[in-house]
Amino acid sequence: MNEASIQRYTFGNPLHTGAVVKDIAAQSGLPAGWKIDSDQKTLTRPMQKETVVYGLGETLRGINKRGWLYTSYNSDEPHHEEGKHSLYASHNFLIFEDKDKCVAIFIDHPGRVNFDIGYSDKDMVSISFEDFDFDMYLIEGESPEKIVTSFRKLTGRSYIPPKWAFGYGQSRWGYKTADDIRTVAKRYKELNIPLDMIYMDIDYMKDFKDFTVNPERFPDFPSFVKEMKDMGIRLIPIIDAGVKIEEGYDVYEEGVKEGFFCKKDDGTNLVAAVWPGKVHFPDFLNSKAREWFGDKYKTLTDAGIEGFWNDMNEPAIFYTEDHLKEVFSEIKEMENKELDIWGFFQFRGLIEGIANNGDDYRRFFHDFDGIKVCHDKVHNLYGFYMTMAASQSFERNNKDKRILMFSRASYTGMHRYGGVWTGDNMSWWSHLLLNVKQMPSLNMTGFLYTGADLGGFGCDTTEDLVMRWLEFGIFTPLFRNHSALGTREQELYQFKDNVSFKNIIELRYSLIPYIYSEFMKAALNDGMYIKPLSFEYPSDKRVYEVEDQVLVGESIMVSPVYEQNKTGRYVYLPEDMKLVRFRSYNNYDEEILSAGDHYVKAELNEVLVFIRKGHVLPLAKPAMHVDEIDYSTLSYITYDADSSSYNMYNDDGVTPVNS
Ligand code: GLC
Repeated sequence: MNEASIQRYTFGNPLHTGAVVKDIAAQSGLPAGWKIDSDQKTLTRPMQKETVVYGLGETLRGINKRGWLYTSYNSDEPHHEEGKHSLYASHNFLIFEDKDKCVAIFIDHPGRVNFDIGYSDKDMVSISFEDFDFDMYLIEGESPEKIVTSFRKLTGRSYIPPKWAFGYGQSRWGYKTADDIRTVAKRYKELNIPLDMIYMDIDYMKDFKDFTVNPERFPDFPSFVKEMKDMGIRLIPIIDAGVKIEEGYDVYEEGVKEGFFCKKDDGTNLVAAVWPGKVHFPDFLNSKAREWFGDKYKTLTDAGIEGFWNDMNEPAIFYTEDHLKEVFSEIKEMENKELDIWGFFQFRGLIEGIANNGDDYRRFFHDFDGIKVCHDKVHNLYGFYMTMAASQSFERNNKDKRILMFSRASYTGMHRYGGVWTGDNMSWWSHLLLNVKQMPSLNMTGFLYTGADLGGFGCDTTEDLVMRWLEFGIFTPLFRNHSALGTREQELYQFKDNVSFKNIIELRYSLIPYIYSEFMKAALNDGMYIKPLSFEYPSDKRVYEVEDQVLVGESIMVSPVYEQNKTGRYVYLPEDMKLVRFRSYNNYDEEILSAGDHYVKAELNEVLVFIRKGHVLPLAKPAMHVDEIDYSTLSYITYDADSSSYNMYNDDGVTPVNS
């Protein structure tokens, strides 16, 4: 499919978001197949009974997005439940696979967009806006996969992390001291479980101030970073969007002096509150502020740090000073009145509506390189531009190596600068399944380096959930166990069956040559690393309804067990495949299964991998760290294929790959 198949239509006066890297002249007229109602601010298109709708990247529900209402408005939403409409990201890309053709749209608009995909009318998609100012790209292609490639040529090549970032990472909110982290490293080492990264949550900072390290709890930070690195472990600190308001804190003082923080209409800096208490938000949409904030990462890279995660960058707002005052005065008024039950609900709503309040996003403005714009209108760009700030500073200050970077909030185009993790999920079996369904959609939008908090972030996990989740997580590029303060500890040494955990993590390390190779091919060719089955077997109508099995790279299909107390599951095979049931990297059984339905046994410690006909799965001997994997002694599991037919991509894993 050539790029001529992409058409651009411009409505109103859209802002330049930076999502797109190709300049396509806007067409006059209306996109074929769509009805535009500028009074109602809607776009509509009919759907056939057979139409399958893919896309929207990181959001809720299934791979086929039909039957729900999705809102692009980046949200600090810890309850990833079916009834919700928004998560942390806005990826306004939809593919319609009709009976006879495929067409996709990308809506480039930085504010709120509602996608009603057969929710109000099951045969209609309707997209509505608050402001009818946007670019609409229409992409036609022979297949959804070809459309994905055209879309990615339009929006740019995916971010490429260092190879070590494909190793296992242990994280938890609550590692407070260097000794806490040493303990994690030591316990993993004692059990000989491979580990490449330990994540540092906000606890490492001094009073939650970005780019500071608590000197009492982490004395001589550079030598601690080195001590860990000498053990083969990289420390990955978090950076939050809000800058603590504190006299004498250089980031705060410089930001105020240079005018780099977001301002209210009266020109004063917005005062919001997040983890550090009261903060100002850097104006990442302003290129000078971006450069200034980006260069702050250098304080940590100079100490030996090689990776970061950007958080709270929707931005999350616990409260703003102004709104809190309003709430208190309303409550005072209520105090003197007799509250009926509706009054009580109103009172409760006031309290519950304090965090991430929509009005707060209308209280402040950006200097979008010369254009004053209300935050609400460009809300979905904030995390994108924060991550751009970091990534561009790495290009300036750390030219010779790749730096790990992923973010919570994102918008299309951010995939050029970093990956994403899927935010604060729960230790629920349903969220393991959600993780499976989110991966192909994220891949379509270019977010290849991605994964969920394995084991679940919120609430108490269980040993079997962590195990089953890791059995899927070993196939996701970002492979991190993370959990919230106050929940059950879920480092693998906390559980009884650490032998099985070791086997699963070792299997990941055995798979790294394959995973890295397939990831890199997807990144370099604007392809997908994790795909829905229907992208590969379009003539088999059954696969369109299979959303709990996915293809990982060219050779394998995976089918995790995602329910508690199950020792197997049903799978659907679109063609004959070789089932490999792994108990460890070198203990597995193999069986050829014919196309069709099967019930497949999978004990708690067993990982199911299906090798596609004519394909090869290379396996390495596991190592304790990615850098130590020996590529010269690979073994291969094949199904009707010669092991030499596998096209292995490899590189040093560190040198930046030029586009
Ligand atoms: C947010 C992040 C989570 C982190 C926590 C504390 O909830 O999503 O990953 O642990 O903040 O920093």
